[in-house]
Amino acid sequence: MTDPKRVAILISGSGSNMVALAESMTGDHPARPVLVLSNDPGAKGLDRARAIGIPVAAVDHRPFGKDRAAFEAALMDRLAEARPDILCLAGFMRVLTPGFTEAWAGRMLNIHPSLLPNYRGLHTHARALEAGDAEAGCTVHEVTAELDGGPILGQARVPVLPDDTADTLAARVLVQEHALYPAVLRRFAAGDRTPVLLP
Ligand code: GAR
Repeated sequence: MTDPKRVAILISGSGSNMVALAESMTGDHPARPVLVLSNDPGAKGLDRARAIGIPVAAVDHRPFGKDRAAFEAALMDRLAEARPDILCLAGFMRVLTPGFTEAWAGRMLNIHPSLLPNYRGLHTHARALEAGDAEAGCTVHEVTAELDGGPILGQARVPVLPDDTADTLAARVLVQEHALYPAVLRRFAAGDRTPVLLP
C-alpha cells in the first residue's frame, strides 16, 4: 500500500469543516492531516485542531497589508515544513493570487457554500434567498486562479424552506458541507476526480 497523502487544511474561523475532514482521515483513509494553518492567530479552529492533536500554525495576514505575494510566500514557507501533498481550503477567507494557485494546481481543494457556478464570492445564502431559489447547497472544487471557478468535484443540495433566513439556510448547508468535503477528499486522495453528488 502507498503512503497516505499528506493534507494541510487552511482555515480562517471556526474550523467545523476542518474537524469533519480531520476526523474522517482515519483507518484505511488514503490521507492524513499534517497541518492546520490559519491566517488568523485567534481562529477558533486552531484550538479545535490542537485538541484533535494536529500540528497548527498561523501566518497573520495583517502585517503584510496589501502585499499578498509576501503573505503567500510566508504561507509557502510554513507549508514547506509540513510537506503536504494536498491543500484543503476550509473556510479560508483570503483570496489567493495566481502565483499561489498555480504552485498548487491540481492539489488544492476548496469548499464553497453555494451550488457553483451560482453565487461565487460572499453572502451566498442571502443571494439565494433574494433570488427565490428552491434549492441551495455547497460545492467542493479544485482551486484555480479564477475565484470559486475551478473544476467541480462534488455538490450537495438542500431545499430552501419558506421561513428560511440566511442563518437557517447556512446551518442546513453546513451539515451537508461536513458530509460532502470528507467524501470528496477520500476520492481525490485516491486519485479519483469523479464528482460526488449528495444526497
Ligand atoms: C463554510 O460555510 C464554508 O463553506 C465557507 O465558510 C464557512 C466556514 O465554516 N467558505 C466560504 O465562504 C469560502 N468563500 P467553518 O470554519 O466552520 O468550516
